[in-house]
Amino acid sequence: MNKLIVANWKMNLDCAESLKLGGDYLKLFKKSPNQVVVCPSFLPLAQLAANFKNSLLSLGAQDAFWTLKGAYTGEISAASLRSLACTHVILGHSERRQYLAESCRMINAKAQSALDAGLTPIICVGEDAAKRKAGRSASFITGQVQRALKGLKLAKNNSLVIAYEPIWAIGTGKVSKAADTVVIHQLIRRVATKILGANTKIKVIYGGSVDLDNAASLLAESEIDGFLIGGASLSASNFYKIANIK
Ligand code: PGA
Repeated sequence: MNKLIVANWKMNLDCAESLKLGGDYLKLFKKSPNQVVVCPSFLPLAQLAANFKNSLLSLGAQDAFWTLKGAYTGEISAASLRSLACTHVILGHSERRQYLAESCRMINAKAQSALDAGLTPIICVGEDAAKRKAGRSASFITGQVQRALKGLKLAKNNSLVIAYEPIWAIGTGKVSKAADTVVIHQLIRRVATKILGANTKIKVIYGGSVDLDNAASLLAESEIDGFLIGGASLSASNFYKIANIK
């Protein structure tokens, strides 16, 4: 099927727990019809890179800074992530926008830095419950995509992923209906293609309370290129089953 299935472990696990879960993934993932990317917190990345070598599992990070080097205490550059064999990086997750006041400008700069380092950015967008109720989802998401992608320069080998993650669906058990998700994905693809050009490789994936019960019907939609999965990725067997939906 060749969808993109991304695990977002968030800050739920310490190093030992991350290595244990990574080991459990490795035991299960002997085959998969889909591309699987695991995004742990920063600290276990180096060890997981070694453990995942020659496996089906790719690695991503949950954030990266907006320049590749310099005096930025406490930050992690996309270049160092790439040197640890990361292929992807999540940017602009709503939790970072909310708790760390990440702006669209920062996310835009981070995306360029990730692309320059050869990483595929997974840029998160999505409306909250109030905007949805007010019927403002489409205009809000259009603005987020426009600001995140503005002026990005992609090299030949670069690709880009946009994750539609409605805030009201994250960790709540409420999932966006397949039909509604398809409409938003079409919008995102349209806006992104207009900015980046028709030749750019863009995937649009969905995140927000994806689990074993709802994954198959969402993934059956050709407009849904994959998932960004939080809670359900903390169980190796559940994540494996979702990632192996054909
Ligand atoms: P969830 O989180 O699957 O636990 O809803 C998704 C995300 O925030 O990426």
